[in-house]
Amino acid sequence: MISYNQGDNMATIKKRKLKLKKKNFCILILSILIIIFSINLTISLLTSNKSQNKLQKKEKTELEKKLDTLENINKNLDFFKIENIDRYIEYKNKNKDLDIEKIITHVNMGIDYDYYTNTQKSTDLNKSYILVNKYNYLTEDYIPNNLQKISLEYARSGMTLIDYAKEAFEEMAKAAKKEKLSIIATSSYRDYKYQVDLYNRYVKTDGKEAADTYSARPGFSEHQTGLAVDIYNGKETYTDFEKTKEFTWMQENAHLYGFILRFPKDKVKETGYQYESWHYRYVGKKIAKYIKENNISLEEYYIKFIDNKQNTIKE
Ligand code: DAL
Ligand code: ZN
Repeated sequence: MISYNQGDNMATIKKRKLKLKKKNFCILILSILIIIFSINLTISLLTSNKSQNKLQKKEKTELEKKLDTLENINKNLDFFKIENIDRYIEYKNKNKDLDIEKIITHVNMGIDYDYYTNTQKSTDLNKSYILVNKYNYLTEDYIPNNLQKISLEYARSGMTLIDYAKEAFEEMAKAAKKEKLSIIATSSYRDYKYQVDLYNRYVKTDGKEAADTYSARPGFSEHQTGLAVDIYNGKETYTDFEKTKEFTWMQENAHLYGFILRFPKDKVKETGYQYESWHYRYVGKKIAKYIKENNISLEEYYIKFIDNKQNTIKE
């Protein structure tokens, strides 16, 4: 028979109690640590959210301030581009007399930059509304589709335009002929190489600065689109076209056939060229009508209705 010593039993019980106490203590410490960690985590999450909100709020306020600088701005103008905001402000500061719509259209056109800087390749190839100017160019190898010769009844030999523009031109010249007027194409589609020679010749004669006011650099001439045509009346030189009855007729009728006077007197800044009474551009009847009735440049039309791909007047 095994006999237990009373003293031994007490010691074991004490040991067990001590163990239990230790265990409870550890659990307590662990719980406290977990609680402290959770509180810390929550606090840091809350503070980072707060500072993020603060940052967002700050950015928004700065943008709002910028928008305020452009007083009377109608952000609903669908050609307003938020990414151009700093350029709008700078351009407005330099052109205080211009209204806000002009500020936005001019900047979107790129004319806050010097001519022939920040250029881009023209899109809309072969389309009647393609924009080629001192900021939008055609590549050296670009040749329009479906070039056709204009009838010798209405052109010097070898003149070509894109088929639909050629049809419209002949129709227009025919209508003028019925009024005993003579509209003759003296320059129409010109390829890149032709423009190289032409521009270089002008630079040689008049110097680069002067040449740039009336002749496009290669790749930047809309004659390369196959949609532009210089006309004369078969007698006076084309530079005297403004003095002819044919010019008066063109002013009243060109848009009915889809043509616009491309470089008007009052649009020198926008087009980048001096007035050319002889240079017409096929854009289609609806666009030509809109441009004439609203007295705007093709550049402005393009920014308002094509560039943002909204409200496009389809041909
Ligand atoms: N004369 C026009 C601007 C051209 O060279 O295309
Ligand atoms: Zn021309």
